[in-house]
Amino acid sequence: MAAEPTTAELRALIAEFEPGKGHLVPALHKVQETYGYIMREAIEAVAEQLNTTPALVYGCVSFYDDFRTHPAAKTEISWCSGPACRLKGGDQIRSAMQQTLEVALGGQTEDHGVGFHLGQCIGTCSEAPQVWVNGKVVGDLTVAKAIRLARDLKGSK
Ligand code: FES
Repeated sequence: MAAEPTTAELRALIAEFEPGKGHLVPALHKVQETYGYIMREAIEAVAEQLNTTPALVYGCVSFYDDFRTHPAAKTEISWCSGPACRLKGGDQIRSAMQQTLEVALGGQTEDHGVGFHLGQCIGTCSEAPQVWVNGKVVGDLTVAKAIRLARDLKGSK
C-alpha cells in the first residue's frame, strides 16, 4: 500500500474523471486501488473534480461495501451473507464473531489488527456457513468454531 497522498497527488490521480459522466464510482475505485482505502482528502478531491459535494461522495463511499475509509487491517475477515450460508446459521456466526472481536460489520478492532466485513456469495456454498480470512475460505463453521477463530485472530499480532 502506498503512503498517504498529498492533495496534488490525489488531484493528478483522478484528473481523467469528469462531472456528469457517471465517473464517481470509477474515481473512487481508482483511489482505493492506488492507496488501499479512501481517505477524507480523497473525498474532497473527488467532489471538487466532479463538481459535486463531499457529502454526496461520502454517501457513495458508505453505500458500497467494497469501499473502505481506513487502511486495511492486518487480517481481513469477510462474512458471507449469501443465502446458503444464512440458511445454515450464518447470522449466528456473524453475531458470535462480532461479539468476540468487539467490532461492528465494516469495522476494525481497536488495534487495527482485524477487520470484519460483509461478503457476498463466491460460490463455495458447499462449505456453508463460512467466512474468508484474507481471501481464504474458512467453512463449515459452528458458533463455537467461529468464536475460537475470532479469538485466535484477535490474539495474533
Ligand atoms: S452463500 Fe455463502 S458461499 Fe454461497
